[in-house]
Amino acid sequence: MMPPGRIPVALAGGATPEGLYRLLAAEPWRSRIDWERIDFFWGDERCVSPEHPASNYGMARRALLDPLGIPASQVFRIRGELPPDVAASEYDSAIESYFGGGNNVHFAIALLGLGADGHTASLFPGSPLLLETGRCAAAVLPGPDGMNRVTLTLPAINSSDHVIFLVTGSGKAEIAARLVAAKPSADIPASLVRLAGGEVEVFLDEGAARLVRDVGA
Ligand code: 6PG
Repeated sequence: MMPPGRIPVALAGGATPEGLYRLLAAEPWRSRIDWERIDFFWGDERCVSPEHPASNYGMARRALLDPLGIPASQVFRIRGELPPDVAASEYDSAIESYFGGGNNVHFAIALLGLGADGHTASLFPGSPLLLETGRCAAAVLPGPDGMNRVTLTLPAINSSDHVIFLVTGSGKAEIAARLVAAKPSADIPASLVRLAGGEVEVFLDEGAARLVRDVGA
C-alpha cells in the first residue's frame, strides 16, 4: 500500500505549467503547502536526458523542485535518458511498487496540459494506448512531433482524486471549447479523462477561454 500520509502528485509537462511551478515555489504559496508530504510523479516525459531543454523533469526541477529543496526520495521521475520501453517499464514498476499494486494506483492530484490536437500527457488522438488497461505507463514511439515519449495511461490518470487541466493562450481556444463541450472521444484524448469519484477541473486563461460557452449554466 501507499506509504501512509503521503500525497502523490503527477506533474504536467510542456511549457504551460512552468509559471505555476515558479509561483508555488515562491511566497506566499511556498510556506502554505506541506511539501514534505508530496511525492512527485510525471504525467509524461520526452525521451531525452534531464539536462535537455525538452525534459519535463528538467523544467520542473529548475522551476519547483530545486527552489524548494525537494529531496530525491520524493521524486519519481521517468528516466528519459533510457531506451523508451525500458524507461516506461521502469516507471510502471515504480508506480506499482509505490502504490502496492496496479489496482491501488491513486494519485491525489494529476496536473495535465492540453495540446492543440486534444492530446494530454502523451496520449495522442487515435493512439492504441487510449485502450491500454494493463499498464500505468507506456512508451510512445514516437509522438507526432517525432519525439519518443513515456506517458501515464488513462487508467493511471483516471485513478486520481483530482485532475486539473491548465490551459493558456488563444491558440488553445478552439480545443479548449471542444474539450469543455466534448463527449468522451478518442479524437480528443483529454476528453477521456473521466474520474470514477474525483473531480476534473479545467483552468483557462482569457485567451484559452475565448470560445467557451457557458458550461453548466
Ligand atoms: C508534453 C506534455 C503535453 C503538454 C501539452 C501542452 O510533454 O508535451 O505533457 O501533454 O501538456 O502538449 O503543452 P504546452 O503547455 O507546451 O502548450
